[in-house]
Amino acid sequence: MNWVNQFLSHPEFLEMGHAQSKSDNNLGLGWIYYALARVNKPKNAICIGSWRGFVPMLIAKAIKDNQNDGQLIFIDPSLADDFWRTPSKVNAWFEKFELSNIHHHLKTTQQFIESQDYQQIASVDFLFIDGYHTAEQAKLDFEAFEKLLSDDAFVLFHDSIRPYESGIYGEDSKYTHTVYQYMAEFKKRNDFQFIEFEQGSGVSVFKKCKN
Ligand SMILES: C[S@@+](CC[C@H](N)C(=O)[O-])C[C@H]1O[C@@H](n2cnc3c(N)ncnc32)[C@H](O)[C@@H]1O
Repeated sequence: MNWVNQFLSHPEFLEMGHAQSKSDNNLGLGWIYYALARVNKPKNAICIGSWRGFVPMLIAKAIKDNQNDGQLIFIDPSLADDFWRTPSKVNAWFEKFELSNIHHHLKTTQQFIESQDYQQIASVDFLFIDGYHTAEQAKLDFEAFEKLLSDDAFVLFHDSIRPYESGIYGEDSKYTHTVYQYMAEFKKRNDFQFIEFEQGSGVSVFKKCKN
């Protein structure tokens, strides 16, 4: 509990729609992210997009607690502000929470899939999609890693259950979240099990079915 307590003492981790609350030391949907990563024990996890690291850090914490040398690739081009721009600051932020298993790439998904680092990924056991919240980008994010998903992989989409007018990229770049439209299509697939949580900004959880 001490780690959670320390984590939630940072106001940054009470934002962005994960149904967190400080008064009862509650990670909200974060428990689910952590628990799923404890259960499926990913060797390779990917997280696309984050405001201050709530999701990648909880997945990385689970991976660390699994003690199986798993790693998390975190893809974020820092388009909302400068928070992820300076590698030394990014590493120091993660180290503050005793996490050294996160590898940040200051790239969009589009740029990352053109890189050598992408070529070297053998498989993906856990994929969390929380980047630019349009149906088109969520589809691109998923399809970038679909062929690499392992048999037991989990795929989660945040901000995925309703439209929302977001100004996170500035007043001139307001846009509407439309990931929910992609989810309506995705739920028809019979190669994934599915559950949805409406708390906070909502999260859609898919688990690959074994053939
Ligand atoms: C602000 S976060 C979303 C907030 C999130 N709900 C949370 O809890 O952190 C969205 C992030 O997606 C990133 N992003 C935007 N477009 C992207 C893209 N094409 N590929 C990868 N990341 C992207 C932005 O840099 C931003 O930091």
